[in-house]
Amino acid sequence: MNSFAKTKMSSSRQNVAVLGARGMTGQALQRLVAKDDAGKTWFFCTRDDVDLTDETALYSWLKAKRISQVINVAAVVGGITFNISHPLSTLDQNLRLATSVLGACHKADIQDVVSILSTCIFPVKHQTAFSEHQIFDGAPHVTNKGYAYAKRMLLALSQAYADQCGRNYVCVVPPNLYGPFDKFDEEKAHVVGALIRKFAQAEEATSDTGRTVRVYGTGAARRQFMFCDDLASLLVWALDAYKDTGEPLIVADDGDVTIKDVVGILQSNFDGTISIEWDTTKPDGQLEKKALNLKLRRLLPDWRPTPIEEGIRQTVAWYRSQCMGQTFPLCCNNLPSSDIETAVNLLRSGKQLSMGPETRAFEKEFAAFMKVEDSLFVNSGSSANLLAVVAAMHPDRPPAKRLVPGDRVAVPALCWSTTVAPLITQGLIPVFVDVDPSTLQISLDDLEAKASGIKALMLVHVLGSCPDMDRLMALVKDYNMVLIEDSCEAMGNTWKGKRLGTFGDFGTFSTFYSHHMTSVEGGFVVAMNPKDRLCLRGMRAHGWIRHLPAEVQADYKAAHPDIDPRFLFVDIGFNMRPLDLCAAIGRNQLKRLEASNRCRRENYEAVYTRLQAKAPLVHMVLPPKDAEVAFLALPLLFPPSTNLENLQGELEGSGVETRPIISGNFLRQPMMKRWLPDEAMGDPAAFTGAETVHHQGIYIGLHGVPWSPAYCDALCDKIVKALCVAN
Ligand SMILES: Cc1ncc(COP(=O)(O)O)c(C=O)c1O
Repeated sequence: MNSFAKTKMSSSRQNVAVLGARGMTGQALQRLVAKDDAGKTWFFCTRDDVDLTDETALYSWLKAKRISQVINVAAVVGGITFNISHPLSTLDQNLRLATSVLGACHKADIQDVVSILSTCIFPVKHQTAFSEHQIFDGAPHVTNKGYAYAKRMLLALSQAYADQCGRNYVCVVPPNLYGPFDKFDEEKAHVVGALIRKFAQAEEATSDTGRTVRVYGTGAARRQFMFCDDLASLLVWALDAYKDTGEPLIVADDGDVTIKDVVGILQSNFDGTISIEWDTTKPDGQLEKKALNLKLRRLLPDWRPTPIEEGIRQTVAWYRSQCMGQTFPLCCNNLPSSDIETAVNLLRSGKQLSMGPETRAFEKEFAAFMKVEDSLFVNSGSSANLLAVVAAMHPDRPPAKRLVPGDRVAVPALCWSTTVAPLITQGLIPVFVDVDPSTLQISLDDLEAKASGIKALMLVHVLGSCPDMDRLMALVKDYNMVLIEDSCEAMGNTWKGKRLGTFGDFGTFSTFYSHHMTSVEGGFVVAMNPKDRLCLRGMRAHGWIRHLPAEVQADYKAAHPDIDPRFLFVDIGFNMRPLDLCAAIGRNQLKRLEASNRCRRENYEAVYTRLQAKAPLVHMVLPPKDAEVAFLALPLLFPPSTNLENLQGELEGSGVETRPIISGNFLRQPMMKRWLPDEAMGDPAAFTGAETVHHQGIYIGLHGVPWSPAYCDALCDKIVKALCVAN
């Protein structure tokens, strides 16, 4: 941090909230205080923590964290294209933010709030050179009026709180910002971000036209730019040191640069063979725009902003690390060092490593999360499936609900090998049901057509979504089916608020490495009936009585006094015991599951929005409206004309890992022919929905950590490019 920030620091340790922490300035503040916290305790608030337009919720959040100072960098912003097309949202959303943020801060008795405006809100008539006092002196530029009027009201409101309530609510006004976490997409990017993206695309292009960057105008227009890290330092300084004098504070460099200068600096940061084409048929815009920083210079005569060459160098380096030559893996590292530490501590503790107290605690916590009575942790999702199928065949079940060898069990044609395998090994007959390619889920029409004579349904919530569960449950009831929900890809997802996996007799889950949460290997079974739960618990470990509830053990012991109770086997048994080591990791992960699933949903939506705009022919699956779905992965269905092999080749070549959607049409898997007679199998080609998914679908990774807009842009660009190559 610059030394001026330190010298003005207040003596008591304050709790500071940064509101709007996900954006470029919020991120710069996080980098800054990670190096030097300026003697304050920092809280970074994003819209995931609280909706900033909800004054009551924000007030509670500020009170709970005992915040005494606020840096308010929240805003709805975009480039020219976005601002022109969104005059209402930019005005309305920014006004709501202003009233809610300042209202909540005042109610929470917060004395210092620094908010940011922008030089683009100054009147058009003063754009050549302007000072703080001219901000209300005429209309803003038409392209920008929603944002400009709302930000002017933020200033007016800040001053009103100062005048009427004695608050130190101040505003600073930076020029064009740029830096890491800037927006780089066509719609929302400003000059520097947009140009960086153009250069990056040119550098990766192979054709001559692709390796040319087209820039509007002659490059003669002059502009002021500010590196976001400089603004972050000034905001921290202003929090303690700047008092409003009835005006905001312009924070800008003394000088300005031409667009030609910026392009030249970018050229030196990218491959030198990229050529520039100036499109002089397009206007330059206002030739000069200069915010005068006399007040800032009076207050901080020694302030030295980052030279633009250095700021752009750092921004390009960040962009390269985020978006270029980057891989888009199917799954990202899901085991942070804190989980490794938990495991290592347990290993070293001398405590039990196999199934023990951690497992039992994990089971209780998972049951609470699923809102069910209890759960059983096992060593994999596949074991969970096998155990559920055997439990459904248990002799203690009532005959109408007990499966016996030869019973027909419906299963979607889009499934996993260990969804079907337990049916086959237990002598049940799988009856495949087609899927709806637009949702990937089981076709309820096909299920209804085949339902007569079906004793059970082994459902799969493909990639975490679900069919219309009301209609499905009505079918299950009408045909008196036993329902097992293979929810190995659906951890945490809901239909009308109820967790998938809790609708049927049994629900199974996987905690394998690539899933929503992981214990490295592992899985769960939940059962709605207490008798089923007891059978599952016994069968998981050898069928002996050791892990049954004490009172049940006592009954068995009393009934079999001739057998050593340590080796008293009362049921069929497997060894599907999990490690306590896995449970300990899983317990950490469960605490993060909801946050991670929220990221999955947001990342999915970000890619969905972009692909809808750029490649509407690519079908992305949406969950039904009554479901809340964090997808396991990002499935894409391409038009029939697409050569899928070429497309996958192109994607893999550009760093995007791909794979079939689960296993494609499962009837095509050689395992099936080997184990099932032809007449039981049916013709794979007759399953037209599954065929579409098999021949036209792939999936790519979706991660439970936030993706930056730049990452989403880069990913979508690669998909669009691959589609062009493959068509
Ligand atoms: C639908 C489905 N069922 C079962 C499983 C098996 O889970 P596990 O890998 O934990 O054995 C998977 C694994 O990905 C799956 O996708």
